Amino acid sequence: MAYSASIQVNLGQRSYEVKIGSGLLDRFGEVLAESLAPRRAALITNDEIWSLHGGRLGKSLDGSCIRYQKITVPDGESAKSLPIAEEVYGQLIEAGFERGEPIVAFGGGVVGDLAGFLAATYLRGVPLVHVPTTLLAQIDSSIGGKVAINHPRGKNLIGMFYQPTFVFSDVDVLRTLDLSQLRNGLAEAIKYGFIWENGPLDYIEEHLDAILDADAAVIAPLVRDCSAIKARIVEIDERDRGLRAILNYGHTFGHAIETSSHYAFSHGEAISIGMHFAARLSAKLGMVDESVVQRHDKLLTRAGLPTKASRVNIESVIRAMSVDKKRQGGENLFVLLEGIGRPVVRPVPDDVVIELIVELTGVVH
Ligand SMILES: NC(=O)c1ccc[n+]([C@@H]2O[C@H](COP(=O)([O-])OP(=O)(O)OC[C@H]3O[C@@H](n4cnc5c(N)ncnc54)[C@H](O)[C@@H]3O)[C@@H](O)[C@H]2O)c1
Ligand SMILES: [Zn+2]
Repeated sequence: MAYSASIQVNLGQRSYEVKIGSGLLDRFGEVLAESLAPRRAALITNDEIWSLHGGRLGKSLDGSCIRYQKITVPDGESAKSLPIAEEVYGQLIEAGFERGEPIVAFGGGVVGDLAGFLAATYLRGVPLVHVPTTLLAQIDSSIGGKVAINHPRGKNLIGMFYQPTFVFSDVDVLRTLDLSQLRNGLAEAIKYGFIWENGPLDYIEEHLDAILDADAAVIAPLVRDCSAIKARIVEIDERDRGLRAILNYGHTFGHAIETSSHYAFSHGEAISIGMHFAARLSAKLGMVDESVVQRHDKLLTRAGLPTKASRVNIESVIRAMSVDKKRQGGENLFVLLEGIGRPVVRPVPDDVVIELIVELTGVVH
């Protein structure tokens, strides 16, 4: 019997289920028929993902007599753009898609964010179903309703909150991810481990090799536990006005590293460096002892993620932090730790941040 678990996201009328399991894709048509009973669905994906896993999804929809129109978008972050959105709107209009017909996002976070944005806006909103295919999308971007496209001046600047009808995470598809993509998601899973009491930290430490192998039996419980944490956080703070900020653990410094390196570091690598930095900052401010920093170092290093960015120009990192959206009263807001699973959000004076950057890199540019 294939593994399967279900997480409920309780948001009143916008509540939904996240199904997680192995061998799920073959049952997609059946589940979609039960939940929305559509005659037809618009399936947004890209050629890579479709060539790897589209056959199973298509067959399952055929089996449930749900017609579908496949709409492919380019691979990569550039698909989250207004010109691509406009092109897809055109295809939806041309095919005569109506209000009750769902948009299915079949792909990673890029496809999910774009398809979600389209579902929220086309005809003032049509049902959205996420079938996430990366570890990051399964444990993070498909849950919580943030949908967005990018503007040439910045990422995710145009978007809204739009919750899906359900999320359908088949862990089997993670087998075809390359290691760097798996690590990207793993960095976020490790983040949940550090910010959540009794989160998945011990589990990741114990099963790291099997996780990096995308072993379905080991990865499914991890996806389940991370999804449950995201669901609990979103239930308390759907609109990102409070608790949801703890999901930015490692992201303040991480984003600065990402932008100042011109994306030479992947998101997962950057937040790995950012989490190490936040742990050190917490220790520097006397909030945790050195063992917490060492636990970060040990796990991130074993996972093949970097903890330091030696090739980055300090000034440009500081400049990137000074334009951070979440700056408050001239200070950057950091998610720090008072212990494992005990995050606090607090402004940190620039001189303390700079001092730590200099300590870590040992040079001033
Ligand atoms: N909405 C949110 O709450 C939220 C949260 C975090 C991140 N995001 C967004 O998510 C995006 C990043 O998502 P991502 O990391 O999934 O990247 P991605 O969607 O670009 O996918 C990464 C790569 O993996 C490929 N791929 C996808 N599934 C595959 C599979 N099963 N096998 C082989 N290859 C596969 C994709 O084609 C792509 O080349 C960013 O745009 C980010 O802003 C959104
Ligand atoms: Zn992230």
